Amino acid sequence: MTFFSLATFPITSKKVFLRVDYNIFLSKREPKDNYKIKQTIPTINFLLQKNCKIILATHLGRPNGKRVPELTTKKLIPILKKTFPRVPINALSDCIGKDVTSAILKGKQKSLFLLENLRFYKEEEENNNYFARELATLADVYVNDAFGTLHRAHASVEAITHFLPSIPGFLVQHEVNELARALEKSRQSIWIIGGAKIDKVDFFHTALQKAKYILVGGALAFPFLRAKGIPIGMSRIDAASINSAKKILKHKNASKIILPVDFHVAEKMTPNTPSLYVDYNQIQPHQIGLDLGPKTIARFKQYLRQADTIVWNGTLGYAEWAKFATATKEIGRFLGTLTATTIVGGGETSEAMHTFHLADKLTHVSTGGGAALDFLAGKKLPGLTALHNNYQHYKKKIHSQKSVI
Ligand code: 3PG
Repeated sequence: MTFFSLATFPITSKKVFLRVDYNIFLSKREPKDNYKIKQTIPTINFLLQKNCKIILATHLGRPNGKRVPELTTKKLIPILKKTFPRVPINALSDCIGKDVTSAILKGKQKSLFLLENLRFYKEEEENNNYFARELATLADVYVNDAFGTLHRAHASVEAITHFLPSIPGFLVQHEVNELARALEKSRQSIWIIGGAKIDKVDFFHTALQKAKYILVGGALAFPFLRAKGIPIGMSRIDAASINSAKKILKHKNASKIILPVDFHVAEKMTPNTPSLYVDYNQIQPHQIGLDLGPKTIARFKQYLRQADTIVWNGTLGYAEWAKFATATKEIGRFLGTLTATTIVGGGETSEAMHTFHLADKLTHVSTGGGAALDFLAGKKLPGLTALHNNYQHYKKKIHSQKSVI
């Protein structure tokens, strides 16, 4: 796909609508995770150096078209002030309308204008053209640095590109380049797939095509065991996942799938419950599988040593609880010691890598949850297609070097 390149686009002194994905977990006092914000610093600094006014737009949570006070973007202000201490930040009380327009017009160059939560308008998720045009009237140029929302055909991601020249930001460029490495044909890759459910059938099918082996962990292992007639006790499972597992096991490449050989099990779903290790076919009716066992971890490491590329989505156990985070942590640590390209995508897995301070040791930890998963599944992301189409539309009018990502 071809896009405008932010580095060469004539953007000096423009009003830039910068779509970011600052949808981060908010505690009562301040946001817990600022990884997504940090990753947009290169784009923001670049635009500040170019003397731009930056109209910063994000969604926060899922307010379903209503003004939900807990989901106001004003909560992001303390962390933005910490991240950009010398930059004037104007928090606006809406994302469209006269007051917003006039605040931006009156405001200084080289400042940030933080719009209110885009999803306070139902039109955002409806990809409404009128709403998108209202957003577009605030700016001269649109930059999308919201990798985590590229899989959403929403007004501030898709429809807005019908009204302004539109460019991917540096984070989007970087994410796409890194994740694309996972899909390169020539590589001998191993994919690790965990998490709770097989709600990622397309992702699995891509893995069956691309990977040499697929290591399955997390609660996702149980539908496969059940599909093979192996008892799994009280472990988490749903009927749809068993059916998906049965279909996947019939695939011509199903022999690539490597299932766990033992589990860390408990009788209760509580963080410090008494627990023990059992072989995969010895889970008793009252037991719940909450993590992989040591034999499986050792076996997975043996496979992973052979890979030149490792793609990982989904935690391998109940990683929120320290006692059952062993497999996720150990495999994460192990990946950090390998020379292979290691790519982690998906909200929970990425979060776990940050919690365990492993992110810096891996080649790429995506800021995207669903977006990374869809990209790795080989699906078209509406936000990316929109940027490409926009380039095709405006390329004759605007002389800027293109970038191919
Ligand atoms: C994310 O956190 O994955 C993105 O911000 C997308 O959020 P959504 O799933 O609510 O669209």
